[in-house]
Amino acid sequence: MPELIIAPSVLSMDYTKMQDQLREVEKSGAKWIHYDVMDGHFVPNLSFGPDILKQLRKSTDLFLDVHLMVTDPAFFAPVFVKAGADSIVFHTEALDNDPAKVKALLDEIHALGVKAGFSVKPATPIEPFLPLVQDADLVLIMSVNPGYGGQSFMPEVLGKVKALDEARKELNPDCRIEIDGGINGQTAKEAKAAGVDTLVAGSYVFKDDIPAKVATLC
Ligand code: DX5
Ligand code: ZN
Repeated sequence: MPELIIAPSVLSMDYTKMQDQLREVEKSGAKWIHYDVMDGHFVPNLSFGPDILKQLRKSTDLFLDVHLMVTDPAFFAPVFVKAGADSIVFHTEALDNDPAKVKALLDEIHALGVKAGFSVKPATPIEPFLPLVQDADLVLIMSVNPGYGGQSFMPEVLGKVKALDEARKELNPDCRIEIDGGINGQTAKEAKAAGVDTLVAGSYVFKDDIPAKVATLC
């Protein structure tokens, strides 16, 4: 299993204190920053475009993990790579849940020189996508319905984590299993026990002492 990584989510940052909070994230030992892109169409919310990512790229060496919650990920993937993304994750639902289309976009993203992964919403089964573990650097399991921070963890998605963990043993042990939504000290334990190695955390981490909160997830 890959080493544990914590990816604090920009969505829950205090935007009046972004520089200070970035320094705190760096101090915490978290190696990634999770960047949620919402287009107001794939999910009923809008978040950040590429210009803010460019600014983040200038201000930190943290790995920039971009989560595209957009209807047209093939259009937006190169835009965010150009802006400084280190990885791009897109949703299978945006590609008609068609494994062939998912594989094609993973390949396109790899050709841009960054890590590539796919994500599934809580209601989307993982089985059709298990063979793609060999083509992906990461698979992101949503543990809330995407669109907003601060929602409650859905433990029923952990069955998908277990299935992925089994699949990667055979196909690609380096493939990361990432989880996103409702992660706190308790749900992090459940997720890690099921096979997660990459934890996105938003509202839990940015409430007060960032390094102390990150430490409780490790
Ligand atoms: C939700 C986003 C998450 C969000 C998680 O659609 O994809 O990355 O920031 O926030 P918390 O950790 O508060 O559930
Ligand atoms: Zn996210």
